Amino acid sequence: VAVVPAGGQGRRLGGGLPKQFRRLGGVPLLALTLRALARCPAVEGLVVVVPRAQLAMAGRLLERFAVPRVLAVVAGGAERQDSVWQGLQAVPAETELVLVHDAVRPFVTARLVARVLSAAAGGGAAICALPVRDTIKRVRDGLVVGTLDREGLWLVQTPQAFRRALLWEAHDKARRDGAAATDDAGLVERLGAPVAVVPGLEDNVKLTTPADLRWARRRVEARAGAGGRVARAAGAGGRQPGRPRLK
Ligand code: C5P
Repeated sequence: VAVVPAGGQGRRLGGGLPKQFRRLGGVPLLALTLRALARCPAVEGLVVVVPRAQLAMAGRLLERFAVPRVLAVVAGGAERQDSVWQGLQAVPAETELVLVHDAVRPFVTARLVARVLSAAAGGGAAICALPVRDTIKRVRDGLVVGTLDREGLWLVQTPQAFRRALLWEAHDKARRDGAAATDDAGLVERLGAPVAVVPGLEDNVKLTTPADLRWARRRVEARAGAGGRVARAAGAGGRQPGRPRLK
């Protein structure tokens, strides 16, 4: 079962409606992401977490855009971690593996989902990530205060997958300890459990800024339109619009 946190307000993007409800090629971002997950045969159900104010609207939207296998649409919390916890409550108890995937990463593929799920089935927890290519510095008040050793640093994406009981325990303990993490694996790591890493995808970008959204819109429209065939024929190195940096 996939839990899809879509409970953010998307403040960095500006504008009124949270970014997960903005349309790309006529289809709301949330629906694109859910459809992509549903294309993976191993995903049996979707639990969607949205801001409380958008609960009714989200339910209508998922029906209108015919998103398959939706088990529940639930209200999120103040932070992403709270939203995933709310989603976990709606995951059937007999579920073996839970996949967590950000609603704002619509270019996830069935192959990537399968790769993460199979690693989690083996060891209990798995993430996907890409090695850092740029130099990373710590900056304070416009001045460099340090340079991190790039060796061994990875940019972490979703999907992430976990045995249901392990993810539950990790979230439950974090709540009792008042601990926070920006991804679910961070909470599992606190338990001392191993987390496997499989290769992520360059295009599996977390759409965050207006420029990200413009890039994604061009990409979706290029695929859907008459140019779609040309773009596909051109292959990965072909006439795809330029990709923004990974988030
Ligand atoms: O906050 P961030 O940009 O990392 O958000 C990643 C995902 O978590 C987004 O899909 C966002 O909607 C979701 N989120 C959530 N509940 C929050 C904050 C973010 O479900 N309170």
